[in-house]
Amino acid sequence: MNRGFKKALVCSDASLIKFGVTAKVTDLLDKAGIAYTIYDNIKPNPTIENVTSGVKAAKEAKVDFIIAIGGGSSMDTAKGIGIILTNPEFEDVRSLEGVAPTKNPALPIFAIPTTAGTAAEVTINYVITDVEKERKFVCVDVHDIPVVAFVDPDMMSSMPKSLTAFTGMDALTHAIEGYTTRGAWELSDMFHLKAIQVIAKNLRLAYENDPVGREEMALGQYIAGMGFSNVGLGIDHAMAHTLSAHYDVPHGKACAMLLPISMEFNKETTGDKLKYIAEAFGVDTTNN
Ligand SMILES: NC(=O)c1ccc[n+]([C@@H]2O[C@H](COP(=O)([O-])OP(=O)(O)OC[C@H]3O[C@@H](n4cnc5c(N)ncnc54)[C@H](O)[C@@H]3O)[C@@H](O)[C@H]2O)c1
Ligand SMILES: [Fe+2]
Repeated sequence: MNRGFKKALVCSDASLIKFGVTAKVTDLLDKAGIAYTIYDNIKPNPTIENVTSGVKAAKEAKVDFIIAIGGGSSMDTAKGIGIILTNPEFEDVRSLEGVAPTKNPALPIFAIPTTAGTAAEVTINYVITDVEKERKFVCVDVHDIPVVAFVDPDMMSSMPKSLTAFTGMDALTHAIEGYTTRGAWELSDMFHLKAIQVIAKNLRLAYENDPVGREEMALGQYIAGMGFSNVGLGIDHAMAHTLSAHYDVPHGKACAMLLPISMEFNKETTGDKLKYIAEAFGVDTTNN
């Protein structure tokens, strides 16, 4: 508020509101007397319509910043809304696919992830579903990166086991694909290898809702995001987006199913990296 912000659009999906996850933040906004309007027309694998109706809601409520509370779907929808509000020539949403020549930074976004997977709070990407064309498309834009990310494992502790597993496997896929993608280099390897180690050690603990596991997964997925946002991903994500667009499969589940297949497919081109991944999982590779 010291920066002169007046009113927020809180982007958070309806289930998160229903189960009181969003309220962990909006209660604090109420206490602090910060004005906001809630926008909850956001579905998993968010659609073009989720973005366009959000733009309309933001204009009607005359907001000047966005608070995204949720998983990748809430954060990605917030990014699309924020970008269009400051770059209205892209209001059709489809024209944002790929690296769109937007001129202005998005409306400031404060991101609060409630899953430990996508790292959308720290990436330059957002993924939108084109229901009509049955496809998901990725938007890559430095203008969409949130101004502040609040990565707090307490926001993730209400995840059921299956969601913890799916989103954790999304994070592991980011780390492995980012580590083995063509653009990878020493600096990105550093992030990805560390992320693989952290996730290998902690995903099972998080699955049991162990607080240390939750905290470490919040960190591991974030570190993976700092890596892959700079070098990109690979064939697993390319196929996962198609699977999700066609069958509405949860993103992390699609990534997990395709991970062994894509690692096998890439094995001739990844040098010793599969060995280092095995070592990050604690496998003794001395005889390999
Ligand atoms: N921007 C990026 O860089 C990036 C990276 C990977 C994936 N994605 C995209 O993110 C989306 C997937 O996001 P996701 O996997 O985080 O899931 P999600 O945001 O789609 O949420 C899935 C479900 O989990 C519920 N949920 C979320 N947090 C919860 C919590 N703490 N407790 C209980 N329920 C909770 C939600 O209400 C929702 O019903 C996909 O569209 C994917 O393409 C984006
Ligand atoms: Fe992903």
